[in-house]
Amino acid sequence: MKLWGGRFTKPTNELVDEYTASIYFDKKLAKYDIQGSLAHVEMLKVCGIIPAEDADKIAEGLKIVAAKIESGEAELSAENEDIHMNVEKLLIEEVGPVGGKLHTGRSRNDQVALDMRLYLREALLDLTELLVKVQQSLLNQAKLNLDTVMPGYTHLQRAQPVLFGHHMMAYVFMFQRDVERITDSWKRVNKSPLGAGALAGTTFPIDRDFVAEQLGFDGICENSLDAVSDRDFVVEFLANASLISTHLSRLCEEIVQWSSAEFNFVELDDAFSTGSSMMPQKKNPDVAELVRGKTGRVYGHLMGMLTTLKGLPLAYNKDMQEDKEGMFDTVETLKGALALFAPMVESMQVKKENMYSAVREDFSNATDLADYLVGKGMPFRESHAVVGQVVLHCINNNKYLLDLTLEEFQSYSDLIEEDIFEAITPETVVNARDVAGGTAKNRVEEQIEKALDFIKVSEDWVETHASKVHS
Ligand code: ARG
Repeated sequence: MKLWGGRFTKPTNELVDEYTASIYFDKKLAKYDIQGSLAHVEMLKVCGIIPAEDADKIAEGLKIVAAKIESGEAELSAENEDIHMNVEKLLIEEVGPVGGKLHTGRSRNDQVALDMRLYLREALLDLTELLVKVQQSLLNQAKLNLDTVMPGYTHLQRAQPVLFGHHMMAYVFMFQRDVERITDSWKRVNKSPLGAGALAGTTFPIDRDFVAEQLGFDGICENSLDAVSDRDFVVEFLANASLISTHLSRLCEEIVQWSSAEFNFVELDDAFSTGSSMMPQKKNPDVAELVRGKTGRVYGHLMGMLTTLKGLPLAYNKDMQEDKEGMFDTVETLKGALALFAPMVESMQVKKENMYSAVREDFSNATDLADYLVGKGMPFRESHAVVGQVVLHCINNNKYLLDLTLEEFQSYSDLIEEDIFEAITPETVVNARDVAGGTAKNRVEEQIEKALDFIKVSEDWVETHASKVHS
């Protein structure tokens, strides 16, 4: 008989059991469900709602059930619909009818909201840790490439030279915002919904703060209707995950481009590349492509969750069971990508000479020639036009700016002198961008210093918050 079978006269249609069950995926929540139940039963005992002896028996039974689920010994069934009722059934099998006291003052509605939050907060810790590792791998590449000049692009056209280290640091700052979004969202995730009951609270003299404190929450959800209806924290997570995926995907796209023969700027380590079944010469950046590709499912989960919630009346609706698979899949997808990313970036071989030739054989120092003329008193708009003429002359004569003679330069402006040749070398051009946030070596070093500071803050955050969750 079903746990809720009292008012029914017939068994559920088998297809209904199959269709409405969430046990296929919410079994992932077993550990959190039992963690929550242990805190709940302790509260029932402390508040004198059930006899201490019964509470202790239940707690013992729950631990046995946890072990049996973990080892795979316990049988979880669609007939028992979800993880909550499966655990309760197993508990009653273990300790007898006294197990039926566990659900006093509680509903699956507050219980599932609790489990989701317990699951997500651990995922947030793991993801932050992984993001920091990716930041560190990028930062290490930046340190190794403080003299590596590459073309910087706008419109994917060579624009101005930058340091490869500067380019790597751009991603470190993007991922930093991702870390900060996660750590900020923690405040909203880490609230206890337990005690909201089905929707209206409970008639038992429960102590919600006690449960919250036991579980390492920073407080309780203040409104019982909101507590069981709220899946904002899932949406917020999926939105933050979408931005992480966006950042990963942009870097993937660059790695794919840089690995092509057309760019030939980097070579991925053999351990992080794959081959072709037909073309023996191929070495493919599959990991980067797949991380880029998986962005689609993460965005999809965000849209799915938003759409599921839109228009739902308060309070709990079965629709909300759809919150789980997308969240789990997003966590797994990101963990997989981030875990691979750090060693892939770290082991990537940077082809400094090829980057340098790409800068040398181009006009990305044209702005600097214009700035040079401005330094000699010419208005920028005028110097822009003069340099345009010089570039055209080069194109027609198959030359770059550094190949011109002083006479050729002077035929466009007599303000140009011998020092022009030094003023437009790739190194000078890069180091002339000596402004906060700029690409000059000392400015990139400043960025690295800042990053080392915030990485330390993130590491401390993970440590202090992990101790709350695991104590
Ligand atoms: N399996 C359900 C879910 O994941 C648990 C809550 C069900 N509550 C209910 N009243 N049917 O959302």
